[in-house]
Amino acid sequence: MKMLLGKDTQSDELAYLNAEGSRAVLVCGKRGSGKSYTLGVIVEELLSVGGSEVIPIIVDPMGVYHTMTQANVSQQDALFSWGLAPKGYEVRLLIPGNPTTLYDADVLQILKQRGVNVIPLRLNPSDLSPDGWCDLFNADINKPLGIVLFRAVQRLQNKSEPFIIPDITKMIERDGKAPDATKEALLNRVEAAQSWELFATSGYQPLQELFMPGMVNVLDLSRLEPGNRGLRNLVISIIARNLFRARSDARLREEFGLATPLPRVWMLLDEAHQFVPNGSTTLSKDQLIRWAKEGRQPGLSLVVASQQPSAIDPDVLSQCDIILSHKLTTRADMSALNSLSQDYMGGELRTFIKALKRTGEAVLVDDERETVNMLRIRPRRSQHGGSTLPPQEEDVFDLWKR
Ligand SMILES: Nc1ncnc2c1ncn2[C@@H]1O[C@H](COP(=O)(O)OP(=O)(O)OP(=O)(O)O)[C@@H](O)[C@H]1O
Ligand SMILES: [Mg+2]
Repeated sequence: MKMLLGKDTQSDELAYLNAEGSRAVLVCGKRGSGKSYTLGVIVEELLSVGGSEVIPIIVDPMGVYHTMTQANVSQQDALFSWGLAPKGYEVRLLIPGNPTTLYDADVLQILKQRGVNVIPLRLNPSDLSPDGWCDLFNADINKPLGIVLFRAVQRLQNKSEPFIIPDITKMIERDGKAPDATKEALLNRVEAAQSWELFATSGYQPLQELFMPGMVNVLDLSRLEPGNRGLRNLVISIIARNLFRARSDARLREEFGLATPLPRVWMLLDEAHQFVPNGSTTLSKDQLIRWAKEGRQPGLSLVVASQQPSAIDPDVLSQCDIILSHKLTTRADMSALNSLSQDYMGGELRTFIKALKRTGEAVLVDDERETVNMLRIRPRRSQHGGSTLPPQEEDVFDLWKR
């Protein structure tokens, strides 16, 4: 399974990436240097060489990847010289929450006209651990609020059945040991969580079944609140955990020669510093570090893209066996990346980065093959989104005000 990424700028030879096993990839570069464009190239290649054997998931905090339904006709000539043709892909736009309240009806209509398959995604309250619930409400498990919440969720989990938010409410109300003021404060928060329309209100939908192989699965987080304890991080933490578990089960079946409904997964996180920041915790960080460290066995690949490698957790950085760095300029980012230099490079990584000239050029470091190349990334077959700036983030987050 060889993914065509681009051409070597010196030898003009085609440059491929082996995607046979699981990989952890860092894509970095300053603003506008081509990171999101490159993520799109990786997804196109996963679809063309992986087919139904791979599920690509793009975590999209900017809401720009739905454009992959459209063929990139404006670069038709450039594509032709690479032996490629413009192509639109099947896109599943997974929107956590209620698409009709999060999006304008006209926008949804246009997405539909463009062939985007809009799919609401609801989280199962029972997929979040007692600790997870306390984390979400920033409730210390050693203080009254956290103690009561932890107890309520734990009691529900002990029943080993899926539960919904009203079950948590009932459990809190019935807690004989908790003071009324604590219950009241907690019930207000649980009620607020209900109003996000993010959690399932009945039944249990296994999340992994929402992601399909052979298509672009875009997880659109653009309408959710950012922040370390925000809803974006909540969604990723639950999805990463579910997929890890489901893929571990699938791997076991594969080892016994049994068919599995869930092929290997590649998750690509754009603006990854929102999820795995250096120096602070988030709701999803532990799960993502686990993907980077232990994902190989269950067949989980992780791609993290960020303007600032220095803003990414060092545990994640050190796990990356592929680096694709576009132009970097700040000293902190240059030195964070340079610290990943290896003996086989025959020089420091910063020397290669400094030699990059144009948008779309990148240094490719491949630990598996122990090679470093300067690449010109190939043109996109599908349309790149997000060239113009999206609206100010503050304008769109009215879901959760604390
Ligand atoms: N390989 C490429 N070939 C041709 N054009 C490219 C290439 N890479 C990037 N571009 C162009 O450069 C512009 C910026 O690219 P992109 O949106 O990927 O930047 P970015 O690094 O993700 O920026 P930001 O940090 O703001 O998200 C885009 O308009 C895109 O069309
Ligand atoms: Mg980008």
